[in-house]
Amino acid sequence: MASDQFEQFVAWAKRRGVIWPSSEIYGGLANSYDYGPIGVEMKNRLKAHWWRTMVHERDDIVGLDSAIILNPKVWEASGHTENFADPLVEDVVTHKRYRQDQLTDLTKSPDGNPLSEPRSFNLLFKTFIGAAEDSQSVAYLRGETCQGIFINFKQVHEISRQKIPFGIAQIGKAFRNEITPGNFTFRTREFEQMELEFFVQPADAAEWFEHWVASRLAWYVDLGLSQERLRLFKHPKSQLAHYSKGTTDIEYQFPWGWGELEGIANRGDYDLIQHQKFSGKDMSVFDEETKEKFTPWVIEPSGGVDRALLALLIEAWQFHPKGRSGEGEEETVLGLNAKLAAYDAAVLPLIKKEPLLKKAAELVKKLRADGQHVFYDESGSIGRRYRRMDEIGTPICYTVDFESVEDGPNKGTVTARDRDTMEQKRVTI
Ligand code: GAP
Repeated sequence: MASDQFEQFVAWAKRRGVIWPSSEIYGGLANSYDYGPIGVEMKNRLKAHWWRTMVHERDDIVGLDSAIILNPKVWEASGHTENFADPLVEDVVTHKRYRQDQLTDLTKSPDGNPLSEPRSFNLLFKTFIGAAEDSQSVAYLRGETCQGIFINFKQVHEISRQKIPFGIAQIGKAFRNEITPGNFTFRTREFEQMELEFFVQPADAAEWFEHWVASRLAWYVDLGLSQERLRLFKHPKSQLAHYSKGTTDIEYQFPWGWGELEGIANRGDYDLIQHQKFSGKDMSVFDEETKEKFTPWVIEPSGGVDRALLALLIEAWQFHPKGRSGEGEEETVLGLNAKLAAYDAAVLPLIKKEPLLKKAAELVKKLRADGQHVFYDESGSIGRRYRRMDEIGTPICYTVDFESVEDGPNKGTVTARDRDTMEQKRVTI
């Protein structure tokens, strides 16, 4: 997508019920978005696909759904109350705020004015538990989902009867009071993460790290992101998060530049040791081979649901000002991987007349019984109905026509129209 098409893409996302600004009837809330009827289906499918490939298709990973508000000691132990901060500077004239580490010129603001001294701005969202709003009742909305995994590590290890190496996966909301949110859903204050904490023997950590970098990169390619728009970025030591021994990001070339989709970090034993210290509970496990206790190291592939979906939509979105033929009306096509499309198929009676309607209803019932999410549409011209489906990425349209119901060689068949090639084939119901 050319960068000047991004606005058009954002307008499409709203018009077609994918993503739109939140709280609009109250004038909106900056950098907050809602997923509409089409967007929520795509997002759910993306998460389900991650869960299937990361949990269901493996013997060595189990799932978890931990609370969003945890005991505040969790965030002290993890280092977030102290270290989860960005350097904030303010333009002394306009009072606009910036992350110092994102400025190219550290001496003045992008508007050319002097900047304040940097101060450390903690990103954790604070709240209060119960009726009293005092320091005793302070709690935090989780800044990353993985801490819920670390504090449950021993419990999951025991009850799932897993042996090291094994992983715990979780998908859920995370919250960060970002200084500079922006670029649509790329950086927001409320977002979803898909995180795997993979617990390994310290000596095997480097090998598992390489495994997860390669495997996660392939996951994005398999879903449809092109190799040329993906790259790996290895963090220099000076830029590592407080918990990390090494991090490689998977980056995507968004219309505004390269941005992180997922980070794969070697967290060492940092988190388990910290929680052991703060909770007083032993976090080590017994090694059957050496007959010794040890604290596992953690390799963490941590991705953003919203960012992954944004990249996939941007990659899939095509605008043809003169249609795909080059000689018609403007056309928008979403070439999204069929696994992630909001609908598996549409069923369209050629015209709104019996016995076509009855046959179409039968087909809808069959497809739904097969577990497919089906859109049924009987109004408007067939061409217009196809285009509506192309625009939200429905991979296939089944059209019930007179041949489907009349005696003859095609009785009991429908046409199946492919979104990408626009080819139609007759197939038996
Ligand atoms: N547990 C490690 C961790 O949270 P991170 O790199 O800070 O690492 C992981 O976040 C992923 O979460 C990022 O790669 C990104 O996809 C997503 N993410 C982080 N901050 C985000 C934000 N403000 N808005 C949307 N997604 C975000």
